Amino acid sequence: MKQSIGIGLMGMGVVGGGVVDVLFDKEERLAKLIGAPLSLKRVLVRDVNKPRAVGLCDGMLTANADDILDNPDVDIVIEVMGGEQPALDYIMKSISLGKHVVTANKEVMAKHGAEILTHAREQGVQVLFEASVAGGTPIIAPLLRDLVTNDVISINGIINGTTNYILTKMAQEGQDFGVALSAAQELGYAESDPTNDVEGIDAAYKLAILSTLAFRARVSDADVYSEGITHLTAQDFRYASELGYAIKLLAIASKTDGAVHARVHPAMVRSDVMLAKVDGVLNAIEVQTDLAGRVLFHGRGAGDLPTTSAVLADVVNIARDVVGGAPPPPPPSLSDDVSISPISALETKYYMRLNVAERPGVFAQILKVLGDLDISIASAIQKETDDAARRAEIVLMTHRAKEASVQSALQAIGRLEVVNEIGSLIRVEEWD
Ligand code: NAP
Ligand code: HSE
Repeated sequence: MKQSIGIGLMGMGVVGGGVVDVLFDKEERLAKLIGAPLSLKRVLVRDVNKPRAVGLCDGMLTANADDILDNPDVDIVIEVMGGEQPALDYIMKSISLGKHVVTANKEVMAKHGAEILTHAREQGVQVLFEASVAGGTPIIAPLLRDLVTNDVISINGIINGTTNYILTKMAQEGQDFGVALSAAQELGYAESDPTNDVEGIDAAYKLAILSTLAFRARVSDADVYSEGITHLTAQDFRYASELGYAIKLLAIASKTDGAVHARVHPAMVRSDVMLAKVDGVLNAIEVQTDLAGRVLFHGRGAGDLPTTSAVLADVVNIARDVVGGAPPPPPPSLSDDVSISPISALETKYYMRLNVAERPGVFAQILKVLGDLDISIASAIQKETDDAARRAEIVLMTHRAKEASVQSALQAIGRLEVVNEIGSLIRVEEWD
């Protein structure tokens, strides 16, 4: 039986710092849970001379990954560096060398999850990645274990804490996008480069991982349609509120007739539905299944300690198997026989904000374009007429319409001489 479980930590930023803190603070508890102590062997960083909040003994930090990879005392590699490379190489090398891996890296898992899991199966090691989606909120283990007898019908969620924090501040306090983003960065919610958060890319990575596990199909980030939140303005939040809606960056996936449809984009949801009330950095994922019905996962989706909670749960699960000599449970088998349904196949309701010339006949021209494409208007309001500049803002809500028709209509409307600008197009999700 092993006397201790050796840990090699790759990355000591927001998440890695939390992992080190909790490894020390909860040392005894972890040892009891596992049946042997965890022993931190080396910590990989980019810059060993950078001041660190957490004190480590001399020689613990290294900038050379081989100090972890070639160390025979490292049983589990925790990868919390982020980015695609060199993280992918280090994960694959760890597996080749018979080391188990715990990662919080959604980019690597979304792009290379299938090959990583296949390699792990061949090498007889475990790769767990609970922290890669929804931070401290369990969702991957429940999908793989607790809901394993269910067919998943759909997933609807808020899975990026940074954007949910920003949208909440914009909606509730009228904050500018930039001010709210800076606060999210200071709080450690945003990725080092926040582009992935605000452009919907981080949420698309997470939705690819969830769709893969929920539908047992190879779904990569490239299969997920994604749009970010940078184009949303204060007016959109004001009009949405007047119409009885909230604006959220939603991650939505479903499987119908063998085709997976997965998308991330800002969406309007009625203010009284559950996801409309999920505010700040919180995440929420509603999984609809055939047996269990609707199951809701709700909690902190980012930050050092919530993410550490998920990372260390994976470490404990692997370490217990190592101590007990149990063979690694097989990773999920994934079907290749699944097609991806494009965003153009979507049918939903739409909100459009148009900046137009204030003169007779403008509405009629816009309505003609929409009518010709079989798009029916549910409500139309003219807003904020600027008499001096002879400009007006038109806010339209459509009935259910085809995405492909709406995109064609927008192009045609954008070409009308009376239209100055297409302010925004936001999909409207109508749920029970
Ligand atoms: P972070 O604060 O930027 O920390 C990254 C750490 O990795 C730093 O210690 C950095 O070293 C080290 N590192 C980066 N590239 C390296 C390289 N090429 N060689 C050696 N060391 C390298 O990132 P984070 O926020 O902790 O995120 C880590 C991972 O967790 C990412 O995959 C992220 O998506 C995921 N995640 C984060 C959160 C969150 O709330 N932050 C939540 C869930 C999942 P230096 O310290 O020397 O720069
Ligand atoms: N930047 C991510 C978020 C961290 O805001 O949700 C958690 O993955």
